[in-house]
Amino acid sequence: MVTATAQPNPLTEGLQLRRRPDPCILVIFGASGDLTAKKLMPALYALAVRRLLPEKFGIVGAARSEESDDDFRERMKQAVKDHARDPFSDETWDMLAEGMHYVTLDFADEKGEDELKDILTHLDRDRGTLGNRVYYFAVPPSAIGTLLEEIAARRAAEGWIRLIIEKPFGHDLQSAQALNTQIQQNFAENEVFRIDHYLGKETVQNMLALRFSNGIFEPIWNRQFIDHVQITVAESIGIEGRAGYYEQAGAIRDIFQNHLLQLVAMTAMEPPFDFTADSVRNEKVKVLKALHTPGPKHVVRGQYGPGFVEGQEVVGYREEDGVAPNSMTETFVAAKLYVDNWRWADTPFYVRMGKRLARRETTIAIQFKRAPHPPFEDGGAEGLRPNVLLIHVQPNEGVSLAIGAKVPGQGMTIRTVHMDFLYGGAFREGLPDAYERLILDAMLGDATLFTRSDETEEQWALVDAIVAFWQRDRPSFPNYPAGTWGPTAADDLLHRDGRSWRRH
Ligand code: BG6
Repeated sequence: MVTATAQPNPLTEGLQLRRRPDPCILVIFGASGDLTAKKLMPALYALAVRRLLPEKFGIVGAARSEESDDDFRERMKQAVKDHARDPFSDETWDMLAEGMHYVTLDFADEKGEDELKDILTHLDRDRGTLGNRVYYFAVPPSAIGTLLEEIAARRAAEGWIRLIIEKPFGHDLQSAQALNTQIQQNFAENEVFRIDHYLGKETVQNMLALRFSNGIFEPIWNRQFIDHVQITVAESIGIEGRAGYYEQAGAIRDIFQNHLLQLVAMTAMEPPFDFTADSVRNEKVKVLKALHTPGPKHVVRGQYGPGFVEGQEVVGYREEDGVAPNSMTETFVAAKLYVDNWRWADTPFYVRMGKRLARRETTIAIQFKRAPHPPFEDGGAEGLRPNVLLIHVQPNEGVSLAIGAKVPGQGMTIRTVHMDFLYGGAFREGLPDAYERLILDAMLGDATLFTRSDETEEQWALVDAIVAFWQRDRPSFPNYPAGTWGPTAADDLLHRDGRSWRRH
């Protein structure tokens, strides 16, 4: 067990370096959706509790559905009660709700645009928000174009602008490039904040702290000492009523293209020169460029059939509401990737991600090479496994190192034990949600934890290459029961190399 040495005040721990953002208005396009209720509003509330929002601030929700300001506020209040990590306080809520408005907006045409403009002007006057805007696009890519044009047309009369763009960022390389071009016509890259919420997770950022603030890891963080890397993004949930989106996306676009490849980039990147947005992203994009396209034998796809997850009986993917009965959409992907550079040549990165797996678990396991010659008597080191540095991204956030230790008693028997650092034990402040960090960073204009246009395009190029060879055959789906660890072919991917997925 590791404990933090100093014990600072839990309310301010980790926040001392944050300054408060300039006055601004946050406009959320797609405010009637789940993301706003479950993530954005609870994150804003957590920021309000910690006095991290701008002193002069307003929120405008915009969506197609009709809703009054009062109804919107009431719905958001309930969302905060249901999903926020802090106890509900009327005083904090009233402060936030005071500057909250709603406008019905049809993203395909200009209806509602005048009303939005009026509300923004009115809020600037009443709340002193100085024309500064954060526009949050929680809408499908097809809805972004018209909105961007409207924003560009208004910008001369406004202060600074920041565009936060949710995934999916396009559907393939071509559409992502088209979207980037459209954005770049009117906005600079440092005004654009493409969200990958995994980068806002504490444990993912801790990967950088672990690697670059400790002298002991970097010298061995390479092909000479590391046998291979395993990254797992396992979910026990299914598609949660999102068939319309998921049928088009599948696991490869939903998780592999963004969260998974970002985890690979964070694990494999070179130390950046400094912690600015450009330095960090320059190093990440080099990894993405160096990723070798895996051949068909090195990629496994799967789709879940009926089964039991955590004791509950669940239907198969094809029986989910809104899914075609013969759907060929994959809900699982495993792959063997190589980063073709001097640090990583010939070191496999085995990755897997899927829905309806046995349990929720995101981990990065760095498996080191075996000790070359354990000098113990026959059988003494039999129970010894290679050293593994395991980063628990979620749940049970923390880091653990598997090492060999002597079993107490006579003789010399060695067994694997774990040195653990658990967030809960070391720090008193609970872990913030990724969206708190990311919304605040965007307001502050810090794009370090957001994806740059070239990263997104590299990610899509790899996905397009995989999807292209998938067109050639039809796997027999479903090929794994819900509640398991995916198709057997995913195990074979490692067995062929004399390895296996980490034990669960
Ligand atoms: C989203 C995907 O980006 O990430 C979802 O669209 C997925 O399908 C979610 O469930 C997982 O996020 P988290 O933070 O729960 O791991």
